[in-house]
Amino acid sequence: MEFGRRFAGQVCVVTGAARGIGESIVRRLAQEGGKVAALDVSERRLTPTVEALRAEGLDVRGFACDVGSREQVRATMAAVQAQFDAAVAVLVNNAVWARFGPLATLDEETVDRTLAVGLKGLMWTLQAALPQMQQRGGGAIVNLSSTSALHPTTEAIVYAAMKAGVLGLTRAAAVELSPHRIRVNAILPGMVGTPASKAQYDPATLADREAGMPLGRFGDPQDIAAAVAFLASADGAYVQGAQLFVDGGWTVGVV
Ligand SMILES: NC(=O)c1ccc[n+]([C@@H]2O[C@H](COP(=O)([O-])OP(=O)(O)OC[C@H]3O[C@@H](n4cnc5c(N)ncnc54)[C@H](O)[C@@H]3O)[C@@H](O)[C@H]2O)c1
Repeated sequence: MEFGRRFAGQVCVVTGAARGIGESIVRRLAQEGGKVAALDVSERRLTPTVEALRAEGLDVRGFACDVGSREQVRATMAAVQAQFDAAVAVLVNNAVWARFGPLATLDEETVDRTLAVGLKGLMWTLQAALPQMQQRGGGAIVNLSSTSALHPTTEAIVYAAMKAGVLGLTRAAAVELSPHRIRVNAILPGMVGTPASKAQYDPATLADREAGMPLGRFGDPQDIAAAVAFLASADGAYVQGAQLFVDGGWTVGVV
């Protein structure tokens, strides 16, 4: 497929970039001309992904970074600017650490790590990207929430709370950062057929769930990447503080 060049020369940062949806977002932004910084806590997974993307001729560089650490995020954002010799224009908060289970067995580690990566981490990346976006007169931020934020499935209390927090953060940041010409929007994917999400279900349940999707299939990572690219690009220039469902119609039928 031929893409436009909507991110030509722009420095884009994607967190949780080693696999799944994050990897697809990196590929799409780079295919459209972006200089993409791929951040992930797992250097072991990130290195081969970045090598493969570079072998496709894409301008992608890998940075090992735990987004739950304010210090690491600050240092990484500075390293990104130094390596690409330009300020960050686009930030995509995609990293997640998730563990599902019943309320009765919920432990502190699960709560703390889920929130540290999926919610506090966004505060640190936004804070670190802000001066660079101000320097270039604006920018675009896209945060990955989930349909679970508003239509949770069972045993997802921490995940749903974290993803609902992402919506609140997105709206608050949109209000605060509008004067800086920084747009902040959220995407709510439904079930996307990544290995990590499929691993949550046995094959029969998975087939049942997929058959029940209004469009007859789960989402592909590329479906999410396309929506991210729209919101992050000039095509989304007047979209601010939005919550975009990309779920194949799944929540339309949910009361
Ligand atoms: N897959 C789905 O069905 C689905 C549905 C709704 C929303 N989402 C959201 O989309 C995003 C991507 O989902 P996915 O299925 O591709 O996830 P995934 O688990 O396949 O990938 C997440 C990546 O984040 C990285 N990561 C974990 N902790 C990190 C940290 N502290 N710092 C930096 N990176 C870290 C992991 O190493 C991994 O590479 C997530 O925010 C997820 O909640 C996914």
